[in-house]
Amino acid sequence: MEKGLKIAVIGGGSSYTPELVEGFINRHHELPVRELWLVDIPEGEEKLNIVGELARRMVIKAGIDMTIYLTLDRRQALAGADFVTTQFRVGLLAARQKDEAIPLKYGVIGQETNGPGGLFKALRTIPVILEITKDIEELCPEAWLVNFTNPAGMITEAVLRHSNIKKVVGLCNVPIGMKMDLAEVLGVEADRLEIQFAGLNHMVYGLDVFLDGISIKEKALAAASDPGKQMSMKNIAALGWEPDFIKGIGVLPCPYHRYYYKTDEMLAEELEAFETTGTRADVVKGVETELFDLYKNVELQTKPEQLEKRGGAYYSEAACSLINSIYNNKQDVQPVNTKNCGAIAGIPYDSAVEVNCIITKEGPKPITVGELPVAVRGLVQQIKSFERTAVEAAVSGDYYNALTAMAINPLVPSDTIAKYLLDDMLEAHKDYLPAFFHSEKA
Ligand code: G6P
Repeated sequence: MEKGLKIAVIGGGSSYTPELVEGFINRHHELPVRELWLVDIPEGEEKLNIVGELARRMVIKAGIDMTIYLTLDRRQALAGADFVTTQFRVGLLAARQKDEAIPLKYGVIGQETNGPGGLFKALRTIPVILEITKDIEELCPEAWLVNFTNPAGMITEAVLRHSNIKKVVGLCNVPIGMKMDLAEVLGVEADRLEIQFAGLNHMVYGLDVFLDGISIKEKALAAASDPGKQMSMKNIAALGWEPDFIKGIGVLPCPYHRYYYKTDEMLAEELEAFETTGTRADVVKGVETELFDLYKNVELQTKPEQLEKRGGAYYSEAACSLINSIYNNKQDVQPVNTKNCGAIAGIPYDSAVEVNCIITKEGPKPITVGELPVAVRGLVQQIKSFERTAVEAAVSGDYYNALTAMAINPLVPSDTIAKYLLDDMLEAHKDYLPAFFHSEKA
């Protein structure tokens, strides 16, 4: 009899979990997940139970052989797992709220994964993921770690360079979201489109776009900047691109590029929203309450539509397709975060990049891109320098590394503002930054 797979989901109480469960149900004929372990921390126990019960109802409705296990014991969940997915948030939404609100006081973009917010999310999360990799090494050394935890690029970089595990892939829904949106604005089926993705997480570009194998780049760039059809994600204001600018850079930007190429407008938008609805974290808190109320309904047996109010559309599609392709050695092309290995020239060999890869049983094989176009190369390199410095800061707890990372981030206007911001945010997140406050506690 075919051996079934064991999957452990760290942060299993997330409101996104039903997406994942749906993805595994839909692929069960070729991806035989027999054990799905949802694990969370004690603070997340109530949500874990609610989501876990919904997952069980979904599995019963689907009539497949998959058992859902709920636990607060990470080690138990990891023991013998074939795949480990991570989707946790250190400090929960309250920490995200601070990441988004504090920079606004200094006239700086407040965003979950970019700028000062992204730096602090990395500082809080990297020590935790490195602990998890130690458990993986001990309890399921053959498992693949599929990380969605943000900031996914920096988390992947940290695991690649500071852990002993090699089987790690970072995943994001931005590339698949871009493809789906582009297919919609072009009025074609998504599976006829191929985008050549390259860059970094939340800093990825479409270098070329193919329809049935033929480049339609000019048409795609025009469609992406059509004032009537702005493509974005639920968490990013869909401010329009200057069509001539998009024509000029000659590549398809991702929704997050708005923070870099339209900084003032995005900041004005954030400040206005802050006055009315608060930060994105505040909005998400409301959506989560609504979602968990729905999940509690014992009649509910499928993923509710309201989940589409979150920014993570197609996340399950990306995750389950990746796991499926590794398991079945499909050798198809998927954009993931992986070790560069020279695929993008000018980015360190050992750094994480987000690039199209061939997905095999031995993991992703990045497809060589060479040099990025000169118009975007500098920004990508600058962000990679920021990411590497941020990772060093997270691992060492070194104040000067953290300040350097903050100051070289393109969204932070000066060294002085960088220092104010750093000090303010270190204090605000003190409880989740033991590496920085170690000497005080000792
Ligand atoms: C996008 C990003 C994810 C991020 C999400 C936030 O999908 O690609 O990395 O987690 O947005 O969405 P939210 O609904 O939490 O604001």
